[in-house]
Amino acid sequence: MINLDNNATTTPSRAAVEAATAALTPRYGNPSSAHSAGDAARTLLHDARCNVAELLGCEPTQLVFTGSGTEANNLALHSLTSQGLWRLVTSPLEHSSVLQHAEYLAARGLDVVKARVGTDGRVDVDDIEAALRDVDRPALSVQWVNNETGVIQPVDELVAVARRHGARVHIDAAQAIGKLDADLTRVAPDFLTFTAHKINGVRGVGALYARDPKMICPLRFGGTQEQGLHPGTENLVGIAGFGAAAWERLRDLPGAIEHMRRLRNVFERRVLEECPWAEVNGAQDARVCNTTNIRFTGIDGQALMARLDREGICCSQSSACTNQKPEPSYVLRAMGLSEPEAYESVRFSTGVLNTEDEMVEAAGMVVTVANRLRRLFA
Ligand SMILES: Cc1ncc(COP(=O)(O)O)c(C=O)c1O
Repeated sequence: MINLDNNATTTPSRAAVEAATAALTPRYGNPSSAHSAGDAARTLLHDARCNVAELLGCEPTQLVFTGSGTEANNLALHSLTSQGLWRLVTSPLEHSSVLQHAEYLAARGLDVVKARVGTDGRVDVDDIEAALRDVDRPALSVQWVNNETGVIQPVDELVAVARRHGARVHIDAAQAIGKLDADLTRVAPDFLTFTAHKINGVRGVGALYARDPKMICPLRFGGTQEQGLHPGTENLVGIAGFGAAAWERLRDLPGAIEHMRRLRNVFERRVLEECPWAEVNGAQDARVCNTTNIRFTGIDGQALMARLDREGICCSQSSACTNQKPEPSYVLRAMGLSEPEAYESVRFSTGVLNTEDEMVEAAGMVVTVANRLRRLFA
């Protein structure tokens, strides 16, 4: 199996699996317990938090572990609205955990504005500024990197615009951390979402960064874990894996980025050379290192994906969370692609565990299958 669907999930690294396994066996204590097993569990939790905080460039106390990126996004939006928000500005490109929460809030009377998006997949900064201007207590929630196209949003500019208008800012960085140089001292959001399984950690754990943890308004009650901001006995197994994955990425972030970029480019170049009728969706000069979203003109992307799956190559047509129910990608539609054009598009995303041989093999298979389908659909 060649995993070219790393934006959906990455394979846990050996270090992450080892750390998670170790947390399951000799050190299986509850971090809230007073005895020595509890001590060991607390140490493990602390060490993992320090690793993740170092990858983000923040203080360990600014991090709250959650059950997923989805949960972190929900916690961020809940915290923003609990502070008496009047308008939430976001974009139609967001992950469903932001969009559906925003819909929920809109149904309860919050003014939710979705800013315009360019054909390059970047949000329109002027439109965002217009939506934030002259509003009492506005907030902005945008993603750093889009999960389908890999397009990087101008977050520095967006945060500066938000600050000019007194808006709080949440950034969904689930697809950004570990794939670009995310300097939180430069970008400085109020909240930032992050998740373990996009950086070869273990699934079932995410994190919410808060510039000031006092701004977090809990969604659950009943414990002192995570400063009481996300109570419930911690998923120490997942957190241990998260810490190990963060540490690995931290040790050589530029190397990891360069590896993923080189593999993506090897793959993309070959496919575009041999399928000159195919094209990349989204801004090419503002794309994260590991993603290519290719439109195969005249071909049903689902058919291409299914045939590649039979050949042992995993890729994706729209966000994984809505994949069971094939619908044209709302991200591509927001960028102005027609329904048929969105259906023709397929996402390939590399990870640190992919190899160049895999990319050459996968590109060859994509070219063969795509050309065969093109003849069939002609
Ligand atoms: C941009 C983005 N935000 C949030 C999430 C949700 O993360 P999780 O799968 O950990 O719930 C994802 C997952 O695909 C994502 O791509």
